[in-house]
Amino acid sequence: MGPGDLAQALEPLPLRQDARLIVGRETFDDAGVFLLTDDLALVQTVDFFAPIVDDPFLFGQIAAANALSDVYAMGGEPLTAMNILAFPSEALPLSVMTEILRGGQDKVHEAGAIIVGGHTVVDDEVKYGLSVTGRAHPARLLTNAGARVGEQLVLTKPIGSGILATLAKRGELAPDLALALLASMRALNAVASRAALAAGAKCATDITGFGLLGHASHIARASSVTLRIRARDVPLLPGAHEHWASGKTGGASRNAEYLATLVQWNRDDPAMRALLVDPQTSGGLLVSVPPARLADYLSAVEGATVIGEVEPAGEIALIVD
Ligand code: CO
Ligand code: CO
Repeated sequence: MGPGDLAQALEPLPLRQDARLIVGRETFDDAGVFLLTDDLALVQTVDFFAPIVDDPFLFGQIAAANALSDVYAMGGEPLTAMNILAFPSEALPLSVMTEILRGGQDKVHEAGAIIVGGHTVVDDEVKYGLSVTGRAHPARLLTNAGARVGEQLVLTKPIGSGILATLAKRGELAPDLALALLASMRALNAVASRAALAAGAKCATDITGFGLLGHASHIARASSVTLRIRARDVPLLPGAHEHWASGKTGGASRNAEYLATLVQWNRDDPAMRALLVDPQTSGGLLVSVPPARLADYLSAVEGATVIGEVEPAGEIALIVD
């Protein structure tokens, strides 16, 4: 769902105060964090969606990388995962289900975690994802509220996966562009997360359904800062700029609508306007890195790119130059 509808639906629900809840739903963070002991916190998240690629194994890998990413985005280490699968068992062979689950398991194992169970329902449309549980040190978390003025904003994967996946679904994406897209969506954010903690970062989120600017706006609000983003520095997947107009999605318009009053656009660039709100699947981390440790971070994380900085809170959440 779009961030506007989600906020509206959740608004009437009372928040339950509990001193052990370190990160709850108020800040639109990637996962909930619950204090167990002074030096141990539980990190919990769930994510599932309909196939964005035809190959069931690849779909399983992407769905799992995407679900694990929310633990990494909090600075956590994934421990266990449970499958969630909706499957049309009358219409599709069970071997398809096995391949989806095999892809998911492959990524969970790559993350050093294990699958401990799951739940299936018969449904007309396939949907797959995982609920992931991880651990973190309560004093070493990456939250939306942790950005500090003067820090540099670093993005660890290129954007454009929503637009390109839409084209791929229609069979309109060249094979080399499809390969680059798949490689990006299957990649874990493990290194980006560990390097962020090592660099003393306190704030990160992963870029998924709300697009780069949607997730950036949650950081701006939770941290009470303004984020300045240089559109020309934002890394794009190959083909994304060329195809931005033909792969636009409903999710992108919902994101744009939500962001209408939150962004000051200093450049009239329709392609970048579309790409910066494009809903991503299994996107990279957006990390707010202390300037003194920026060089360390960039050398530790392949593909990491500086795209802007954190400024004192102005009248608007995001400025795009
Ligand atoms: Co997330
Ligand atoms: Co999520």
